[in-house]
Amino acid sequence: MGWIEKALMRANRWHFVHSYRTIIAREKRKHPQDRERALMGAIGAASRADFAAQGDAQVAVLRHHGLSDGMAVYDLGCGIGRTAQALLRDGWRGRYTGADILPELVDHLRAQCPGFTAIVQRKLAIAAPDATLDMVFHWSVFTHLYPEECFLYLQDIHRALKPGGRLIFSFLEFEDPAHHTVFQTRTANFAVNGWSSVLDSFLHRDWITLWARQIGFAPPRFTSGSDTADHPAFWQSLAVLDKPAPA
Ligand SMILES: C[S@@+](CC[C@H](N)C(=O)[O-])C[C@H]1O[C@@H](n2cnc3c(N)ncnc32)[C@H](O)[C@@H]1O
Repeated sequence: MGWIEKALMRANRWHFVHSYRTIIAREKRKHPQDRERALMGAIGAASRADFAAQGDAQVAVLRHHGLSDGMAVYDLGCGIGRTAQALLRDGWRGRYTGADILPELVDHLRAQCPGFTAIVQRKLAIAAPDATLDMVFHWSVFTHLYPEECFLYLQDIHRALKPGGRLIFSFLEFEDPAHHTVFQTRTANFAVNGWSSVLDSFLHRDWITLWARQIGFAPPRFTSGSDTADHPAFWQSLAVLDKPAPA
């Protein structure tokens, strides 16, 4: 491998770490006196009220899809604990593990949610032994990864879930016109700068369905971001993938 190729690989490896450091630094410039508000901005909350309402909506989605007390759950890309804090407000009791790529985010979650485990993990893998988790969820994480990275995570989530366990995650899709603004903003960045500092990626339901089949999940179920039938509208689309239990 030549030096240019090596340098490119070094710059692209951990692209999500570089992106999130950039976002956090930008939000700290916006909110120099309020670190917590800056961190909320970095994970996409427009205000403290939004942060709490979005967390409650995440828990409503989990409850609708079978979250119950006593479960072992894994919050991939847990950020500063939007879901974890909402789980505490909800009164849920169980074994929670959150994983994220930056110590500053994970430290904040730990401080807010004593008794919950939160770890820094940059490998595209789940920090849990085989077949030990009842539920894995991740909100707006695949939106920042390449499809290949998503596939590797899906494979490892399947390994870590118990038979009968469930994965729930959110994603952006071109089929939803509400998501087009994300693409338009990125396109404008590329037009002006030739680049966009954050990767916002889109998935397709047929890719997720194909990957689920290849990995061994049951056929996925999807909910569009505007659907309010069973929980508040989520804006991003939702996918639910079950690891089949033995017959
Ligand atoms: C939009 S924020 C959402 C945070 C959290 N899921 C929530 O709903 O509050 C995306 C999160 O994904 C994390 N992230 C980015 N790349 C990741 C990766 N490769 N593995 C795990 N987490 C990642 C970011 O650090 C960030 O905390």
